[in-house]
Amino acid sequence: MKVRKAVVVAAGMGTRMLPASKVIPKEILPVVDKPAIQIVVEETVASGIGEIVMVLSPGRTTVLDHFRSAPELESLLERRLRHDLLEIVRYTNSLARFHTAHQHEPLGLGHAVLQAREAVGDEPFAVILPDDIFDGARPCLRQLLDVAERKDAPVVALMRVARSEIPKYGIVAVEPAGPRLHRLTGMVEKPAIPDAPSDLAIMGRYVLTPDIFPLLAEGKPGAGGEIQLTDALMALSERRALYGCEFEGVRYDLGDRLGFLEAQIGFGLKRPELADRLRAYLKTVLSS
Ligand code: G1P
Repeated sequence: MKVRKAVVVAAGMGTRMLPASKVIPKEILPVVDKPAIQIVVEETVASGIGEIVMVLSPGRTTVLDHFRSAPELESLLERRLRHDLLEIVRYTNSLARFHTAHQHEPLGLGHAVLQAREAVGDEPFAVILPDDIFDGARPCLRQLLDVAERKDAPVVALMRVARSEIPKYGIVAVEPAGPRLHRLTGMVEKPAIPDAPSDLAIMGRYVLTPDIFPLLAEGKPGAGGEIQLTDALMALSERRALYGCEFEGVRYDLGDRLGFLEAQIGFGLKRPELADRLRAYLKTVLSS
C-alpha cells in the first residue's frame, strides 16, 4: 500500500494542560522552542507523507496559522537583516500541504478521525495524535509505514507500559508476528488493570485503511462515553489482519504535566547550544 495522507487530530480541548491551554491550543505549546504540532508535522514529512488533513475544533483553528506565512513578521525580519530567523519562519510555510476538517462536538477520537473521511477519500492514511511525540534514529511513523507496506495491512504503534499506566491507554492482545511485530487479536480502550489483555499500549501513530470509516460511522459510544478509534479497530480486526509495531525510540506524552517536562529536558539535551549548560544546571538542582 502507498500512504499519501496523514490525519493529524488537533481537536481536543486540552483539559489536561490547563491553564496553559485555556487560550492557546495545546498543540502550539512548545518543546524548547518548537510547537508540538511542528514536531509531528516534521515527523510526517520525514516519513514521506506531504499531505496533511488537520482535524480542528471550532475556535481552535490557530493551530494551522503556524504553517501560514506571517507577512508582517517576515518583512520586519527582512528589514532587520535577520535572515537566520527569516529562514526559521519561512521553513514552516512550505513544510506540507494542509487540508482541514472540523469536529464540532467533542465526541471522541474515533469521531474526530471520521471527520477526515471526505478529505482522505478511498485510500490508506496515517493518523497522528500530537500529544505523543517521538525521538529516535528513524521516525516512528516511518517504522509503521514500513510494516504497513510489507504486510499490506493496518498497523498501530505499540509500547510496553507500567501496570499502573494501563488505564490511560488502548491495550492490545497479540500473537507474535516477527521482531518487534505483533498481530492484534483483541483490544480494549482504557481497561481496568485486571481486565487488560497485556501491557502493550497503543501510542498515537496509526496506519489505517479506509474500511475503518464505516466502522467509525456505526460506532457506539465506548469508554468515557466517547466514540473510540480502538473500538472500530477491534471491529476491523475481526475482518482483516491488523498489526502492532513496537517502535524504536523514546516517546514523550505532552498531554501529561510530567511528560511535558520530560520532553523539554530530553529535547533540550539534544540541542548542542543548550546541552552542556542544561546538564550542568540539572546537576546543580539535583545536588541541592
Ligand atoms: C488515545 C487513544 C488510546 C491511545 C492513546 C495514546 O487516548 O484512544 O487508545 O492509547 O491515545 O496516547 P487519549 O490519550 O486521547 O485519551
